[in-house]
This record gives sequence, structure tokens and C-alpha cells, in this order.
Amino acid sequence: MRVVILESSESVTQFAADEVCALLKERNAKGFGAVLGLATGGTPLGLYRELIARNARREITFANVETFNLDEYVGVPPDSPCSYHYYMLENLFQHIDIDLAMTHVPITHGVELQKSAEAFELQIEQAGGIDLQILGIGSDAHIGFNEIGSSLGSRTRVKTLTERTRQDNARYFGSIDDVPQTALTMGIQTILESQSILLLATGTGKAKAIRDTVEGPITASVPASALQLHPNVTLAIDRDAASGLANADYFLAAERNRAVASRSS
Ligand code: PGA
Repeated sequence: MRVVILESSESVTQFAADEVCALLKERNAKGFGAVLGLATGGTPLGLYRELIARNARREITFANVETFNLDEYVGVPPDSPCSYHYYMLENLFQHIDIDLAMTHVPITHGVELQKSAEAFELQIEQAGGIDLQILGIGSDAHIGFNEIGSSLGSRTRVKTLTERTRQDNARYFGSIDDVPQTALTMGIQTILESQSILLLATGTGKAKAIRDTVEGPITASVPASALQLHPNVTLAIDRDAASGLANADYFLAAERNRAVASRSS
């Protein structure tokens, strides 16, 4: 795993935006559109603001980009401000030159959920797979809504949210009683099939989850620890989120060496 420890949440935003832009430009140069996996929550908001700004300055285009979001609540209609459909429109899609028909957020309203899950998996396959999956991480180390105990071989399906996740997300709903009990989420295996993965984390509230993800054993009790199995994962985290790492000095040294190597190449 590449662990990039950055000074601030703003540096995490800039790092993530640079990674996404590099992919979009590389694909554009080859005449392909990139396939991006997207996340919701508080952490990627800075990244989305930065992508909107770079798109407005015409540094990047989303014209041929296809996107797949990690998850959506069950029981929240897509036009509700609490839905992830709404979040994506509000925070990214309506501000960039993307074709909305190329954006996919799991559908949980007015459908049979298992069929919707299977259709979502098929759409990812038909797109040729995800090139770069952006992830946040829950304070309990969930990725997507793959909560503790999620099979490391899981695919898109309905998951019950933990009490902790519902508490963490109650801020968007007004009251914890209004937070749904379940969500449709990409599975851990679905996520692991992405070509590359970029996990973003900021703040001390994520420090334990990051330590367990990077330095703990691979276990379904820490769903993000499954990322240790992936050959191309980058964690971009601020100092607070890195504060629980025993090997932080090693990761900082590895990045210094990477910078030296890239200057001399
Ligand atoms: P957050 O959520 O970015 O709002 O902290 C992350 C997550 O639950 O995956």
C-alpha cells in the first residue's frame, strides 16, 4: 500500500484532484474516457469542489467519463436531499460537463433491490471496469457501506448499517431515527476489482480505522483491511488521520524517496 501522509485536509484534496486529473488526461490522450468510482460523505467534498474548478478552467473534461457511485440508501427517494443521487448532482454532476446518462448511482427506489444490484454490477462490467475508485472510510473502517463482517468476496447487495454509521450520518438527516437501516452498496470484491484505488481520510476520528486498515490483520471485522490485497492502492491522509500509525516515519521516508526518484527520472 502507498500511504501518503499530507500536512492538511487541503493537501489531501489537491493530491486527490491531481490523481484524478492525471487519469482523465491520460485516457483522453489515448482517446478513451475514464471510468471513475465515486464516494459520498464529507471527505470527498473538497475533491469535488476542486474538480469543478479545474473543469471550469478547462484543464480537464468529463465529456467521456463514466462514473459509478459506491452506494445509496434504501428507502430514500433520489430527489430527497438526503439521497446520494441528490448529493452527487448537488456537489459534482450539475457543475461539470459530464453526460448524466454516464453517471450511475445504485438505484434503490421503485426497483427490486437484488435485480438492481445485479444490473449495477453488469453496468460496471460493460463499462470495462473501474479505472480509479475513490473511497472514504468510516470510523469503523467500512468502505462503501461494507460494514463489519462483510465478506471480503462480496458483490453489490443490501447491507444493514451499524448503529455507529447511522450515528455518524445522522448529521445529514436531522435525527438518527430518520437514518435508513439499510443501503445498497458495491461489495468488497467489486471494489477490489478496480484497476486502482485512492482512499482519502482526514481527522483524528479516522486514526484508528486507518491504523487497523494499514497495520492490522486482514479481517472482515475491519472491511478496509481487504485493501491490503490490492496491488495498486494509495491512501492520501492528513497528519491527524495518520496519528495512529506505528510506521508513519517509514511511509514519510518512502514518499521522500519517491519524490527523489521522480525528479531524477
Ligand atoms: P465521511 O464518511 O467522509 O463523511 O467521514 C466516510 C464513510 O463513511 O465512508
